Amino acid sequence: MSQRLVVIGSQWGDEGKGKMTDYFACRADMVVRYQGGNNAGHSVVFDGKKYSLQSIPSGIFNPRTVNVMANGMVVNPVSVIAELDRLHQQGVTDYQLFISNRAAMVMPWHSALDGAYENMKGESLIGTTKKGIGPAYSDKYSRVGLRMGDLLEPEYFAERLKAALDVKNRELKMLGLPEFDFKEVYDQYMEIAGKIGHMITDTSKLINDTLLTDAKVLFEGAQGMMLCIDHGTYPFVTSSTPSAASVPVGAGISPKWIDNVLGVAKAYCTRVGEGPFPTELFGDIAHEIRERGHEYGTVTGRPRRIGWFDAVVARYVARLSGIDNWALMLFDVLSGLDKVSICTGYECDGEILDTPPSTISRLAKCKPVLIELDGWKEDITGAKSFEELPEAAKAYVRKIEEVTGVPVGMISVGPDRTQTITVANELKNF
Ligand code: GDP
Ligand code: IMO
Ligand code: MG
Repeated sequence: MSQRLVVIGSQWGDEGKGKMTDYFACRADMVVRYQGGNNAGHSVVFDGKKYSLQSIPSGIFNPRTVNVMANGMVVNPVSVIAELDRLHQQGVTDYQLFISNRAAMVMPWHSALDGAYENMKGESLIGTTKKGIGPAYSDKYSRVGLRMGDLLEPEYFAERLKAALDVKNRELKMLGLPEFDFKEVYDQYMEIAGKIGHMITDTSKLINDTLLTDAKVLFEGAQGMMLCIDHGTYPFVTSSTPSAASVPVGAGISPKWIDNVLGVAKAYCTRVGEGPFPTELFGDIAHEIRERGHEYGTVTGRPRRIGWFDAVVARYVARLSGIDNWALMLFDVLSGLDKVSICTGYECDGEILDTPPSTISRLAKCKPVLIELDGWKEDITGAKSFEELPEAAKAYVRKIEEVTGVPVGMISVGPDRTQTITVANELKNF
């Protein structure tokens, strides 16, 4: 009987999903990315080297692991090839990678449109990664998209490309953007098909066949639940659903397979891009955490906004995704602070809220209700067990469990694979 583990971001992205996925991938048979695209930036650190992945699953470093980019993703094949080239240059040459024939394809006009829409929004821009993610998902749902499997049938690809360009070129023209030439795009994508066509397959079948064996299968989420198109801080969100609930659709499997969800959360919070952020910190503490945690975007290099751990968000996300355990990340970054705070509720218009409001207009008015705990001075980057942590750090972990109602199953005390403490027995056995 297979074992499954879903690794999802529980805040606003960049929680350390890449690190946790790689950690488990060392003993997993399959790693599946089920949503998002190359807007993600997942870092993996081991043997003194740092790797950054955008759309390729974080199991790519283990030659035994089958990596799958599933149908729920938006795949930019140009970016996949560039990522693979980069990995080759870094010595990663022995890997297994498959791409769903049903995955939506990010085309060059999508990034052009992403930039144009952002410009048109003026001050209310989202602050997207400009990778064309929103326009690619929009075209999927408007049914003018191309899919990865189309590349395998040149005549059909030509037909779909013509149909797409008929619509998209008109839109580009209206916006004063350069149009795309059918022949040029066709030739470029046929060349791409020659390079990665052998990886494109029915990944739903591949995953299901694996689930029926005694394999270990990981599902790697991208972004974070507060960036979810349905449940996040709309409109300051991405265009997919990072939830564990989107794994079945995004991977082409039955929901019955989902039974173990690891919510990856920083010991504090960060956010890149615009949008309300109730526990946001400014000044010295934000600066200290940003520098110590190297909180600059992997994809865009933007400084990340910093805030205290938000238990309102954590409880909400646990409810939406059925989180069994937290992986508490970047815990080492909090060492050295005199006091640390956790947000347990929001105060809004004289009311105390224990769950986020649906509109950002109300969320922007929310003030965090904070509890303050003692900090700790010790360097914890070498801690190998929960018992080794300073008492104040242990108290912080216990408080997070208490205010979120979810156990802390993993604690990360540094970026390296080895700087990981597993607390939960079910995770030790995965
Ligand atoms: P992801 O998008 O969720 O995979 O996260 P990112 O890779 O974008 O950002 C997480 C950053 O934190 C990366 O630079 C990681 O190398 C780093 N990181 C992960 N876990 C830890 C940790 O426990 N401590 C420290 N100091 N850094 C960590
Ligand atoms: P990982 O997987 C952090 C943010 C962008 C922007 C909003 C919409 O590394 O955690 P998009 O390009 O998706 O249309 O941008 O979402 N965003 C992320 N923030 N981590 C990510 O991915 C993100 N992917 C998108 O900054 O605010
Ligand atoms: Mg990231």
